[in-house]
Amino acid sequence: MNLSFIREDLLNLSAYTPTPIDESQKKLIRLDANENPFNLPEELKTKLALFYENKIETNRYPDGSHLCLKNLIAEYINESTSLDDVIDNDNISVGNGSDELIRSLLMATCLNKEGSILVANPTFSMYRILGESLGIPVINIDRNESDFSWNIDKANETIAATTKPPVRVVFVVHPNSPTANCLTTTEIQWLKDWPRDILVVIDEAYYEFSQKTLVGELAQHPNWIILRTFSKAFRLAAHRVGYAIAHRDIINILEKIRLPYNLPTLTQLAAQFVLENRHLILPAVGDIMKEKERVYNVLKGLEQFKVWHSDGNFIYLRSANNPSTQNHNNILDQLKEKGILIRHTGGGLRISIGTATENDILLQAIRIINN
Ligand SMILES: Cc1ncc(COP(=O)(O)O)c(C=O)c1O
Repeated sequence: MNLSFIREDLLNLSAYTPTPIDESQKKLIRLDANENPFNLPEELKTKLALFYENKIETNRYPDGSHLCLKNLIAEYINESTSLDDVIDNDNISVGNGSDELIRSLLMATCLNKEGSILVANPTFSMYRILGESLGIPVINIDRNESDFSWNIDKANETIAATTKPPVRVVFVVHPNSPTANCLTTTEIQWLKDWPRDILVVIDEAYYEFSQKTLVGELAQHPNWIILRTFSKAFRLAAHRVGYAIAHRDIINILEKIRLPYNLPTLTQLAAQFVLENRHLILPAVGDIMKEKERVYNVLKGLEQFKVWHSDGNFIYLRSANNPSTQNHNNILDQLKEKGILIRHTGGGLRISIGTATENDILLQAIRIINN
């Protein structure tokens, strides 16, 4: 068909195509999306279902202010980080997953050919995908192979050399996906020394697992913004809720850009429930991290893999003898035949931590894989 009314750059872009999830998919051991292996506690699901039945007016629009949810998020942040400068609800914006916030940030900074973004690979692919879908130049540099830290000299050179349009946003991830490393003190110092005309997006999607955050630094660095999500430790991937923490002036801009009713009523309620009941939900993070240590130690002992330290609920590894795309795909396929899904990304394999039983099955299978 004649698509001459469509932006030319979009015509050549390949779509992000998620795998359809049917009942057979649910029987597989799904270690490919860094989700929490545990569903919500039964009592919370029942409470949510009762709310839907008795309280929610499906004919009414959701609360577009998100005020109740923002207050709870602020309380959670202030409680988990003893801050001198308290986070308030006007330091928070809520999105339909952090994906929506990433897109809003890109729209606010780089559209109209005003800016480029800088990412260090391997990293979370949505920065690039969303950037490209908006026609924003994405500047890619490689990370240091040994520990996947930023190649700071290369980044500085690249920023200085990129003028048309200049770098407006840099995405760092703490800890990074897929490589699971947190920012080092050298990298953090580097970000602190930055000019204020570049926005630093610090993605802390896995904060509850790493227990490392830069939220305490926000007041000194008004060009920083932190992204978090309810999709991981809080077990709400199905509901799509993420939030941004930043100076109120940046938050105001995000609020201008978002759709007025971006979060359905049930989703807002679900996020409120998990925050109010975090004492029931978050203790499992400790169990997942213990499992992570166990899986890491077994994988580390296998000669056929090179395995990296992890600060998240997932482990990154590569074949020691043959780290080619073909061989990694082959490993992926062999595991798939045994009903186990993992992710091939960034030149390696990323394995999410599942339940103890799922991890046992994974470890048994991976030991005997042809590699
Ligand atoms: C680093 C990182 N940021 C953001 C996300 C997406 O979060 P959300 O589900 O809130 O869109 C992910 C999901 O895997 C991630 O790995």
